Amino acid sequence: MCGIIGYIGKKNSIPRLINGLKTLEYRGYDSAGIAYVKDNKIKIIKEAGKIANLEKLLEDKDSSNIGIGHTRWATHGGATSNNAHPHKQGHITLVHNGIIENYQELKDMLIDNGYKFNSDTDTEVACAYIDYLYRENKDIVESLDKCNSIFKGSYAFGIIVDDDYDSLYAVRKNSPLIIGIGDNENYIASDVPAILDYTNKYTLLNNYDIAKITKDKVTVYNNLKEVSKDILTYNIDKSVRDINGYDHYMLKEINEQSIILNNLIKNYDSKDKILKNIKDYTKYNKIFIVACGSAYHAGVVSKYMIEKYADIEVNVEIASEFRYKKLFIDNNTLVIAISQSGETADTLASVRIAKELGAHTLGIINVEESSIAREVDDVIYTKAGIEVAVATTKGYTTQVFILSMLALSLAIRKNINIDKDIFNKIRLVPNLINSLLDRKYNYLTKILKKKNDIFFLGRNIDYASVLEASLKLKEITYIHSEAYAAGELKHGTISLIEDDTPVISLVTNKDIAEKTISNIKETIARGAYSIIIATKDIDIPKDSYNDLIRIDRTVDLLQPILNIIPLQLIAYNVAKSKGCDIDKPRNLAKSVTVE
Ligand code: F6R
Repeated sequence: MCGIIGYIGKKNSIPRLINGLKTLEYRGYDSAGIAYVKDNKIKIIKEAGKIANLEKLLEDKDSSNIGIGHTRWATHGGATSNNAHPHKQGHITLVHNGIIENYQELKDMLIDNGYKFNSDTDTEVACAYIDYLYRENKDIVESLDKCNSIFKGSYAFGIIVDDDYDSLYAVRKNSPLIIGIGDNENYIASDVPAILDYTNKYTLLNNYDIAKITKDKVTVYNNLKEVSKDILTYNIDKSVRDINGYDHYMLKEINEQSIILNNLIKNYDSKDKILKNIKDYTKYNKIFIVACGSAYHAGVVSKYMIEKYADIEVNVEIASEFRYKKLFIDNNTLVIAISQSGETADTLASVRIAKELGAHTLGIINVEESSIAREVDDVIYTKAGIEVAVATTKGYTTQVFILSMLALSLAIRKNINIDKDIFNKIRLVPNLINSLLDRKYNYLTKILKKKNDIFFLGRNIDYASVLEASLKLKEITYIHSEAYAAGELKHGTISLIEDDTPVISLVTNKDIAEKTISNIKETIARGAYSIIIATKDIDIPKDSYNDLIRIDRTVDLLQPILNIIPLQLIAYNVAKSKGCDIDKPRNLAKSVTVE
């Protein structure tokens, strides 16, 4: 979702802004723009569509020591160049990530005071409102502080003020923004990777922090008082962003899963390591899991795991629902927030609500020092590395892994019997993943790419896995798909099955395999083209499938990781054969920082 970059220093800001915007592309956007100072005046260039469109409008000879840039993911107003950021009103030029919820009442007041608007955005209103305050007090820090109590919603702003072209200003509330610290130059950015080509030193802004940034100094205020800030170092090698010869980041990230899990497993492959790396949560008698999208699906998988292995009731909630419902939560409840980015607005809000209700909060997070990681009581990092493709793959499997280890830690602490050989089996999983990675599914791809609807079936934990498979397929191939608990299809949705409708079923649980197979046959009787993915140890009758994909059996706790690999690859190959923009699917954002 929207990306912000800003530069102040001795060098030309324009190539740095464009490079930063390209690095932020993965967040998802539909227009882009930059503002810089030329001949002592602000020059704004912005355009709908890709950054390449913006680049065509740039003038080679322009150079400026200060600038701000933005990739916009449309919320208020379509993806047009007028609605693109930066916006300028009076003395204020600004880029924004977030939503100003009370923009309409502010806009009415500003129109009454003579302001005119060129866009449909809440952002231009925020810009004008800051100008309105600044005109009166001529003090930008004071104006921004006032805005902190007036603006409802979420925002990260990068600002240039006409009277002060030697400073950038930044302020944030519930949207990510960092300050990059360079040598005689400083940056603002939505995330650290956007500035890694120039510096790996950075400072985090807390909610309501207001920063004045010059080329050699950063001063941060909160409540009009100066606050001191630590300078942190980002330790991920920037080469992890390289595509390494793969056609897409998604394929690269699918392939990375065996190595990443191999590294991760080393921290959890014995009782002692598990007990050392995962705290004791046995005192909580109820667990809530909150998350969105694929992270929610990882939560559904882990509900089955934790309930089965650790004998504790688990409720999994979509974060955007959790935050607006009656909750039965108290200080005996553990609330687990799962998030790859650590910035998802609904998940962050859910954490805050859970804390207010007295629950203990645990984050399963990939991006270190992200907002959710900083707000939860405890955090376990999933160590997936930077995930660039919008559709998560390694982010999801590492979440499932950590949650399975959490289930195991609870079982160990509760002295529940576990397989004596479990750790040896866990160590074998990366090799089993490897053996699934070079499959191409050409024949299936040809069949699926022509379809408009695809159904997924599974029971129990296989149902949890196909929820993710269906999301993966639809988000990158744009083919409509639905995942159903196998026994539920006949309660309505089976009416959609007609000749050659693909039904992809996951069958990895021996105890209930026959039940799922009966449900599959019900779809075949209505003309379905049946594709079954099953573990090698389960007999699958010949009359229940058109195509059969076999996968290895591993420990139940990690079986969902193996299950999803062929399904990720099938989604990828179908999307590729359809020529879709796999790493940046239409309308989607990597980091969903608005609710
Ligand atoms: C789908 C996908 C999304 C995210 C969701 C939550 O491939 O990536 O559904 O899982 O937006 O994001 P995080 O995990 O960053 O909170």
